[in-house]
Amino acid sequence: MTIHVKNNVHWVGQRDWEIQEFHGTEFKMTKGTSYNSYLIREEKTVLIDTVDHRFSHQFLQNLEMEIDLNTIDYIVVNHAEEDHAGALAALLERIPNTPIYCTEAAIDSIVGHHHHPEWNFNTVKTGDSLDIGNGKQLVFVESPMLHWPDSMMTYLTGDAILFSNDAFGQHYCDEHLFNDEVDQAELMEQCLRYYSNILTPFSNLVIAKIKEVLSFNLPVDMIATSHGIVWRENPVQIIEKYLEWADNYQEDRITIFYDSMSNNTRMMADAIAQGIHDVDPGVAVKVFNVSRQDKNEILAQVFRSKGILVGSSTMNNVMMPKVAGMLEEITGLRFKQKKAGAFGSYGWNGGAVDRIHSRLTDAGFETVAGLKSKWRPDGKAMRICRAHGQQVAKQWALHELNVQPMIVEEAEVQPLSVAVPAAKPAAAAQESHGDDCQCMICTVCNWVYDPAIGEPNQGVEPGTAWNDVPDYFLCPDCNLGKDVFAVHNR
Ligand code: FEO
Repeated sequence: MTIHVKNNVHWVGQRDWEIQEFHGTEFKMTKGTSYNSYLIREEKTVLIDTVDHRFSHQFLQNLEMEIDLNTIDYIVVNHAEEDHAGALAALLERIPNTPIYCTEAAIDSIVGHHHHPEWNFNTVKTGDSLDIGNGKQLVFVESPMLHWPDSMMTYLTGDAILFSNDAFGQHYCDEHLFNDEVDQAELMEQCLRYYSNILTPFSNLVIAKIKEVLSFNLPVDMIATSHGIVWRENPVQIIEKYLEWADNYQEDRITIFYDSMSNNTRMMADAIAQGIHDVDPGVAVKVFNVSRQDKNEILAQVFRSKGILVGSSTMNNVMMPKVAGMLEEITGLRFKQKKAGAFGSYGWNGGAVDRIHSRLTDAGFETVAGLKSKWRPDGKAMRICRAHGQQVAKQWALHELNVQPMIVEEAEVQPLSVAVPAAKPAAAAQESHGDDCQCMICTVCNWVYDPAIGEPNQGVEPGTAWNDVPDYFLCPDCNLGKDVFAVHNR
């Protein structure tokens, strides 16, 4: 089956209604997905991306009903991950010498997956173009780390279609192809789920890349993603959303998540949530049990929140493993400008709360004092939990509050000593350098290059000024190049 997109462009992709997990079990899909491949027939015939390797046979069968495969002049691979380039091996068995256009990084990934270094690779960089006849060209735009090093987008002049690959996409399956044809609430929910769970760590790059694309002053009539719908009606809306989401996005929302051995920590979560609502009814509060509920939904809620409260029973003097796993994910997603606190019930020691507090602080959250409750919270302890929620609501309020908090006279629940606010990234470098500091900061992960230290692991000796650092230098934390570094403003 094909779907007409515009003029000589057709969708020749594959819907996947039944898929439930992606990236192993990392990303749960609640609405299926699609693998969008596009066929352009001008004087030259071009295939943009393929489909997931599990659908290779179906893809070729479908494509052959539309065209003779031997008439394909060029294949563009915007991204080497197997959900887009997976059917390449089957396709190139049939048309082995067809030129493939991709980034240099993609060759490494494609060969790494398919083991065919002899394929006819043609490397492209941002601004390179390919004439496809009838006055139209394909213009390539590299988009490294959005979300793999090899990612790129392809722009079709004349029709003004941006084939954006993963960017602006969503794991969403519908028999309709265009954004104006589907349920808008479902669509935007899946867009946010995708951004928050996959693209959050690269938000600085998202902003930079969108600004770069906008600077070309190219009209964009459609954004043809590689998952989900094609943005036909007001495609700029998703660009604007990405800019909003990439800019330390938060709503007046607090997310509480926990795991609980004996229901005691769950009781604390309920009381804290009630306390927040007591003094700030305007704030949205959502409560999740990490061992029972959708992890990706919780992460999407964290993304939307101004602050989070994380609870765990203490087990063997540490937190429960599913909470630890969530904190690891949250650390990797590198949320910025959010607040956090820890809480939990314990029997004979309360190590979980201390560890959660430390992990949240290390992850860059501005932390408030944690809260511990011994054994099952009684009436007094529940009042203290509720008062804790009230206190958090006051501290994190984005507007003036009129409600008087409940007064708690006695504390059987032991708050931690008031926590030190989260250390700002690279604080150590900030503290140890004077006004003449020449440090550079990675705008993606905040790793700081200090000329006094250099980066001996990459052969950059101490005392090497930034200008003398070689172009092959990569950020040791996120593996991006010198171009993502900026002057470190102390
Ligand atoms: Fe990066 Fe849709 O795979």
